[in-house]
Amino acid sequence: MITQMTDCLFDLTEQVIIVTGGGGLIGAEVCRLLDRHGADIVVADLDESRGPEIADQLDNGTFQSLDITDVDSIDTTCNVVFDKYNRIDGLVNMAYPQTDDYGKQFESVEKEDLVANLSLHLGGYYAMTKAVALRMVEQEHEGSIVNFSSIYGIQAPDFSMYDQTDMTSPVEYSIIKAGILNFTRYLASYLGQDGIRVNSVSPGGVFNDQDHRFVENYESEVPLGRMAKPTEISGAVVYLLSNAASYVTGHNLVVDGGWTIK
Ligand SMILES: NC(=O)c1ccc[n+]([C@@H]2O[C@H](COP(=O)([O-])OP(=O)(O)OC[C@H]3O[C@@H](n4cnc5c(N)ncnc54)[C@H](O)[C@@H]3O)[C@@H](O)[C@H]2O)c1
Repeated sequence: MITQMTDCLFDLTEQVIIVTGGGGLIGAEVCRLLDRHGADIVVADLDESRGPEIADQLDNGTFQSLDITDVDSIDTTCNVVFDKYNRIDGLVNMAYPQTDDYGKQFESVEKEDLVANLSLHLGGYYAMTKAVALRMVEQEHEGSIVNFSSIYGIQAPDFSMYDQTDMTSPVEYSIIKAGILNFTRYLASYLGQDGIRVNSVSPGGVFNDQDHRFVENYESEVPLGRMAKPTEISGAVVYLLSNAASYVTGHNLVVDGGWTIK
């Protein structure tokens, strides 16, 4: 833990925070930084190998198997966390559920594909957030929720990024991530009187050994001239969960190297 954290606005000591998708690329770094700021982290993930591995690396981390697309699994997670800690102070929604054939070009996406992915991803964020928010209301003290959106929830993809690659930006993703942004604002308004803050983080592209042509295309268009590192997203989450953001709600914190200013 960071030393002399007492009185620091970013101190998360004794804060119990659930991180869905905590075993993922960005999720693992979010868990690590929250841990360094003193929080008790519940790494909640469908992946039962990577999730426990991340939890084991933390000073105060436990793994909880969670499927955000299954309300029973969500209820179990909330019950387990409440039984162990008797409180939930924070939730970070970072899971990335998708159908097996997700990622098709627009022409090939059938309505059923769209609806299935909306149900898994947007529906999963809705169900998880609702369950935790209601627990936060019951416990009658402040809480904070952070939902992961994306630059593609704010603006249209630049398809020239994908020239000469087999990559694309799926239409479902834009619809889901835009929906998450206004769901966040809705909840911030609805839950403000209960002292629950709800914000979103919208990362730009994070480097993950993508096709080099995509990386070159992307980096030539982003003002900071490079893709993000996973470690560069987590500070935004610490800020939004901490007292430093005690008067911030309904905000979308864009962490994109300047991508969306153009
Ligand atoms: N990586 C990027 O470039 C980028 C950019 C913008 C936004 N984002 C967003 O950030 C978030 C995290 O992205 P990432 O790149 O770390 O993804 P990732 O695929 O590396 O990690 C996602 C995690 O979610 C877990 N998961 C999948 N389905 C689940 C379910 N049903 N229940 C619980 N857990 C489940 C996976 O096991 C995995 O550990 C996502 O919401 C993504 O849309 C990512």
